[in-house]
Amino acid sequence: MIDKSEILRIAECNRLAWDASAVHHNENPEWQKLKAGFARAEFSTFDATLTAILTDLPVLGQSVVQIGCNNGRELLSAMALGAKSGLGIDQSTAFIDQAYRLTEISGRDCQFLASNIYSLPEDTPRGFDVALITIGVLNWMPDIDLFFKVVSSLLSENGKLVIYETHPFLEVFDPGAADPFLPASSYFVETPFVSEQAIVYDESEPSRVPASYWYVHRLGDIITACIDAGLCLDKIVEYPHSNRETEYDLYTNQVAQLPMCFSLVAHKG
Ligand SMILES: C[S@@+](CC[C@H](N)C(=O)[O-])C[C@H]1O[C@@H](n2cnc3c(N)ncnc32)[C@H](O)[C@@H]1O
Repeated sequence: MIDKSEILRIAECNRLAWDASAVHHNENPEWQKLKAGFARAEFSTFDATLTAILTDLPVLGQSVVQIGCNNGRELLSAMALGAKSGLGIDQSTAFIDQAYRLTEISGRDCQFLASNIYSLPEDTPRGFDVALITIGVLNWMPDIDLFFKVVSSLLSENGKLVIYETHPFLEVFDPGAADPFLPASSYFVETPFVSEQAIVYDESEPSRVPASYWYVHRLGDIITACIDAGLCLDKIVEYPHSNRETEYDLYTNQVAQLPMCFSLVAHKG
């Protein structure tokens, strides 16, 4: 159990690390691709799996809140699938700035809120039809139980939660290790991984940024936290494909295949 002041302290460290990393994200070719892409109404960064989940939900005509929206590319992608409105929440003001730049290019009517999810302002809009959490968000959360209670409070009655995340079991392996297939850390590790490297998705030379804290939340803990937050599970699927950084591609297409990512759909009961 971690107390609230420690949660806020860790979140603040992570905010500083993400803000300091933002410059790398709008200097790389991916940023140019996003700017060119969002000038087209149908452009989406979702892969086939998340596109199918949101199409079947359906996201069409729904109000969507994305927690940990980063530069807004996925909220804008949900809009391209027909979402009625979108609010992106992220505590990094540098990435929220990027989100507004992409939104302006897209001409979409998306809103963004620069806030720590653990200390949302009282006037935060609520009653959303869909809450979206995607790749690389859960591990930044020092307290997964409190996190899902806040997420649940953003949803309307019967509102739906969609998670499409990396699989926590993958955290046991280090793609940069001499033998990347040898377990490198325990699935049951309780302490966070601490890094002072810029948070980038490609293999560019990382610069030093303030320390950030990355937690491994076991699949059972994630599911239990959803249930404890008043969410009823509809579907959980584990996949053999990767939805994360390309350095993890080496774990795909194996005879003895690891789980690479998972999706979870739940509704507020
Ligand atoms: C890996 S990024 C999400 C990327 C997104 N899935 C995408 O593909 O564009 C994780 C985001 O979570 C945000 N974040 C981390 N801790 C947070 C917190 N306590 N409150 C709000 N946002 C947070 C970070 O600022 C970062 O932008």
